Order: sequence, then structure tokens, then C-alpha cells
Amino acid sequence: MSEDLFAKLNTVLGEINSAQPTDTAELEQFRIKYLGSKNTLKPLFGEIKNVAPERKGEFGKVLNSLKQAAEAKFAELSTALSIKSDAAETSGLDLTAPGLPRKLGARHPISATQDKIISIFGRMGFAVAEDREIEDDWHNFTAMNTPEDHPARDMQDTFYLRDNPNNLLRTHTSSVQARTMTATKPPIRIIAPGRVYRNETISARAHCQFHQVEGLYIDKNVSFADMKQTLLFFAKEMYGPDSKIRLRPSYFPFTEPSAEMDVSCFICDAKGCSVCKHTGWVEILGCGMVDPEVLKNCDIDPEVYTGFAFGMGIERQAMMRYKINDIRLLFENDVRFLQQFQSVH
Ligand code: DAH
Repeated sequence: MSEDLFAKLNTVLGEINSAQPTDTAELEQFRIKYLGSKNTLKPLFGEIKNVAPERKGEFGKVLNSLKQAAEAKFAELSTALSIKSDAAETSGLDLTAPGLPRKLGARHPISATQDKIISIFGRMGFAVAEDREIEDDWHNFTAMNTPEDHPARDMQDTFYLRDNPNNLLRTHTSSVQARTMTATKPPIRIIAPGRVYRNETISARAHCQFHQVEGLYIDKNVSFADMKQTLLFFAKEMYGPDSKIRLRPSYFPFTEPSAEMDVSCFICDAKGCSVCKHTGWVEILGCGMVDPEVLKNCDIDPEVYTGFAFGMGIERQAMMRYKINDIRLLFENDVRFLQQFQSVH
């Protein structure tokens, strides 16, 4: 008889020790069952009368240890559960949930094209020169051999600033030539990327703001042949090793002689397409030998130094590379357009 009662105590002890409540509701069930006013240990105390007299003392001790075991277990479980619920409340995070996909930005086609141009000239020793977009008349025009009444000013419709009509939004990055030549002495080998502005009607092919890259190389004995070789290297790096160039005579106030450079059409391999208007050639840039007047305006002796310069638009090159048919897309920053360039480098 006593043995059965001792065995029962053992079973209860096993139950207490193996209890594993996972939330506060289950913990409360545990408390009611073993420590509440009608707990399951109480009837066992009533069983003492059925225990053999010589074992009553022992039975009482085991029963008391059961109660202590239940109290200790309850304390341990309460702490464990409250640490768990604190952690969940304070972070509000489910650390087991799968991560959210991260949205990656894309490089703008203008930046990608501009960076490629800069890196090609960088390998030929051209350093990047950047300067202001609000420029004065002298650096944008006069120093570049385009005085006030010069008809070439009509080539570029200019935004003048209302509060000071001597200031304007630069119409070309050639103004950086004047900035650099008045600030440093030759040898000068710079590439000047940046935004320029012209008072143009906005359409699919033209915008009132766009980007250019200007190049300038001034030193002793710089020749037209140096310019041609530099630009041929650029064309091959930019448009593929089989690219050819041709220089057509042209006119710019700041260069003499002046030329426009075409590159063999890389869209159709010069076979003829809508981009090259079936000529096999695409116009890329203007260039020439820096006019001695420009050197003089910037305090560089044209008897000692010569140089070449070139300027190219970035938008048209980006539009050809990525087959974009409307220049306005490049300025609207519509993410549906931009995210298509995720993999562009
Ligand atoms: N500044 C000219 C333009 O905006 C481009 C240009 C042509 C720049 C010839 C030059 C150059 O440096 O030599 O159309």
C-alpha cells in the first residue's frame, strides 16, 4: 500500500520536472495544478493516514520536497518566459522571418556614359577639372574668342541671369578651358565633364539642359596629329576596336583649324541604319587646335605653346548606347525608366 503511494509521488515529481509550458497561459495552468488552492498535491497530504506508521515521516518529507520542486520549477519557468516575451516586445521582430529583398539603385545612363569617357581619357593622363555652372560672360564667351557682337554667339541661345546680366548659365563646358588656363600654366591636360544650358525648345531630340565633356591639351609642340591619334584611341575604346573616325572641316570661334569628328556607326557596323541616317557615320564631337587668341586671352604665349581641344555631348552618346529614343526620359527620373539600367556599368 505504502509502495503505491510512494510510486505516485514519484510520478508527480516526474511530471513537475518535465513540464514545459511555452506561453504564460500554459504556465498559469501549471501554477493552478501544483500550487493553486486546489492543487493536486493536497489530496496526497490526505493520504498520509494510509502510509505505514514507520514511513509516515519519510512520506511527509517527500511530499514537501514535491511542493518545493513545483515552486522552484514555477520560478524558473516564469523567468524564462518573461525574458522571451520581453525580447519579442522590445524588438517587435520575428528573427526567424525571411529577410525583405533590398532595392538596389541603378546607375543613371548619363553617369555611366560620362564615367566611361572620363576613364578612357584618364588612362591617357587627362585629369578631371570641374567648375561652376553659373559662369560669367568672359569665361563662357569672350575668353573663348567670342566677343559680344560676334555672330557665333547666336549659335548658342543663352540663359542670362536677371539680377546680373553679366552672369549666365554656361552654354558649354569650354568655359572650363578659360578657368583652367587662367589658373594653371602648361602643360595642361584636362577633361571637364558637366551640365550645360541652352534656351532651346524641349523636344524628343533637344533639351534646355544637357551634359558635355570638354578636353584640353596644351604643351610645347602639340600637333593636329596628336589630336587625331588621341581621338582615334578614344573612339576605339568607346565604340569597339574596329571603329574608324573621320574629321570634317568645321568652324568654332575658339579653334583654328576646327573639325567635327564622326565615328563609324557602331549600331549597324557602318552598313547603314536609322541612327546613322544610312551614312555609316555618326557625329560625336567638335574639336580643333586652340586658337592663338584664346591662349593670349588666358596669358599663355602662343609662340611657345600650342594645344588641341574638343567637346562632346553625353546625351546623344548615351541614347545611342542604350537605344533611348527621347532625351526627356533622361531628365524625368521616372524609376520605371531608371530601373532598366540595373546592370549598366
Ligand atoms: N563648345 C562646343 C559646343 O558646345 C564644342 C566644342 C567644339 C568644344 C570644339 C571644343 C572644341 O573644345 O574645340 O558645341
